[in-house]
Amino acid sequence: MNPCLDALQPYPFERLAALHRGLAPPAGVRPISLSLGEPQHPTPALITDALRTHVQGYGRYPLTRGEAALRKAIAEWLGRRFDAPIDPEREVLPVTGTREALFAIAQATIDAREAGALVLSPNPFYQIYEGAALLAGAGVRFVNLTAAQGFAADWSAVSETDWARIRLVYACSPNNPTGRVMTLEEWRTLFALSDRFGFLIVADECYSEIYFDEAAPPLGALAAARQLGRAGYPRLVAMGSLSKRSNAPGLRSGYCAGDARVIEKFLLYRTYHGSAMSLPVQMASIAAWSDEAHVRENRVLYREKFSRFHAIVSPYAALAHPEAGFYFWMPTPCDAEAFSRMLYSRAGVLVLPGPYLARDSGAGNPGAGHVRLALVATVADAEEAAHRLAEVLKKGDTLSICSPSTAAIA
Ligand SMILES: Cc1ncc(COP(=O)(O)O)c(C=O)c1O
Repeated sequence: MNPCLDALQPYPFERLAALHRGLAPPAGVRPISLSLGEPQHPTPALITDALRTHVQGYGRYPLTRGEAALRKAIAEWLGRRFDAPIDPEREVLPVTGTREALFAIAQATIDAREAGALVLSPNPFYQIYEGAALLAGAGVRFVNLTAAQGFAADWSAVSETDWARIRLVYACSPNNPTGRVMTLEEWRTLFALSDRFGFLIVADECYSEIYFDEAAPPLGALAAARQLGRAGYPRLVAMGSLSKRSNAPGLRSGYCAGDARVIEKFLLYRTYHGSAMSLPVQMASIAAWSDEAHVRENRVLYREKFSRFHAIVSPYAALAHPEAGFYFWMPTPCDAEAFSRMLYSRAGVLVLPGPYLARDSGAGNPGAGHVRLALVATVADAEEAAHRLAEVLKKGDTLSICSPSTAAIA
């Protein structure tokens, strides 16, 4: 077996299940999950209709680079959304969800024979980055995202020696779990470092369409490159997805766009890897990328949920409203695991302890003292969860609040 497999960590949700083993919500209290970041608004009919219409397409092998019409639809969407001109022939590829593409890009671009190669990952982070680096034979250099730094990555904490070993940087903006969006200045710094040291930047933008001010969509990597006057997208690829934007996590549809030289090699890799998107999914994806009305409606629901939840809970916790995405990254009054157990056994609300999304790379685990709350369920459930959470927070002092044996609040 590949020995790198032994370095993989259990997925956060396995750890959560183990943490909650033997616990139950109070009698008669319906559990509400805020733990898994799976969108739960209905998938729009334009997607399901297109799948039905094109069902005969399952009878054909799809092309890895996708139909020209899909690449065109994605490139046009990127042009409208980020004011970023993308050549549909050379600068874009369909991917079967960003998860596989975030993983595969490391396998395609890192030379496994090179000793000491590093992948830079934010910390906390989406766990695929770490697995992708380890299975590509590289080490992981984490950059902590802390409240003290406003959750911005502090690139200056990385030594010159480490930069010289870094082959790939994952930049997650809007960030899971902090909800922070990278600024133009941060992109300027990262691009300058990439120009100097030659690493590839992989921008994970799968939350780019979940934001709260219609007039201020989050900045994206391709847009930043344009605004900074760069010539094209050297050593930069951005990845996005229909999972969150269009409430279609099971469709497995996204894109990778940017540096044509990287896209060319990534296509070669993917041809062997076997990750082509089926034709009905391509047709449904064309319909989804070509429509913004359902995306705006989706945001209306998130906006409502976040404003209600924030209004109810913020009097009792330092609950910062995210800039984008669908998570609150909430500081806890006690140890995050104890808080998660307490909240489930006293109020039936399931939340993910922050340390499960981060690693201790020397300066402590930056997820400590936080839980991630995914507001993916209905507006009513989010509001109900907020009331239960507020009730727990306002009742307890810091010590007693985290005891799972304390009586139910419901
Ligand atoms: C930060 C981040 N990136 C990528 C993904 C993968 O999304 P998908 O594969 O559905 O596009 C997720 C899923 O939750 C995520 O949180």
